Amino acid sequence: MFKIAVLVSGSGTNLKAIIDSIENGYLKNVFIETVVSNKKDAFALEIAKKSGINTKVFSLEEFESKEKREQAIISYLKEKDIDLVVLAGFMLILSKDFVDAFKDKIINIHPSLIPSFCGEGFYGLKVHKAVLESGVKITGATVHFVTEEADAGPIILQDSVFVDDDDTEKSLQKKVMQKVEWQILPQAINLIAKNKITIKDGIVRRI
Ligand code: GAR
Repeated sequence: MFKIAVLVSGSGTNLKAIIDSIENGYLKNVFIETVVSNKKDAFALEIAKKSGINTKVFSLEEFESKEKREQAIISYLKEKDIDLVVLAGFMLILSKDFVDAFKDKIINIHPSLIPSFCGEGFYGLKVHKAVLESGVKITGATVHFVTEEADAGPIILQDSVFVDDDDTEKSLQKKVMQKVEWQILPQAINLIAKNKITIKDGIVRRI
C-alpha cells in the first residue's frame, strides 16, 4: 500500500476528490493513512470522519509556537511512515525543516497556472480575485512538488479553464475546482504512487 497523509485547513473538496478516486478504483493501492488539519473546525475533518479516515488536529493554541507545532506534525507523519504528503487546501507555508524531512515527498494543489498568481499571499479566493483584476482570459490549477520557496517547486500537472466576462471570484473558484483541481490532484497522486515520474534538474519528467 502507498500511504498518503492529506493536510487540510478548510472545506476539503480536494480531499473528497481523493477519497472518491480511491473508492471508484482509479487510485489503486493508495491508502489515506491520516488527515491532518491546523484548524479544529475545518469541514474537511467531517469529510474524513464520514469515510472512517483517521484525523489529527494541530491547532496553534496547543503549542508554544508555530515552530513547535510544525515539529509535532513532522514527528507525527514520520511515526506513520508516510510515502507522500498531500497539501489539499493546507494554508500554512512549510519551513525548510519540514521540506527537508520529506524530500520530494510533498505535493501541493494551487488554484492558478504557476508561475502566475502564486507565492506568499496568494491563496484561496485571493488568487481568483487577482486573476479577475488582471484581465487574463485563461486560468487553471497546478499540482507541484513542495520546496522551501512557496509555490515554486517542480510542476507535475496543470490544466486550464477560460475566464468569462461574467465570472466572479466565487464562480471562477468553483470552475477551477470542478474542472481542474479535482482531476489533476488524484492524477498526480496516481503518477507518483505508480512511480511514473521523476525530477531531473528541477523539472518533472515521465519515466
Ligand atoms: C483549493 O482551491 C486549493 O487549490 C486552494 O484552496 C482551496 C481549498 O479547497 N489552495 C491554495 O490556495 C493553496 N495556496 P478545499 O479545502 O475544498 O480542497
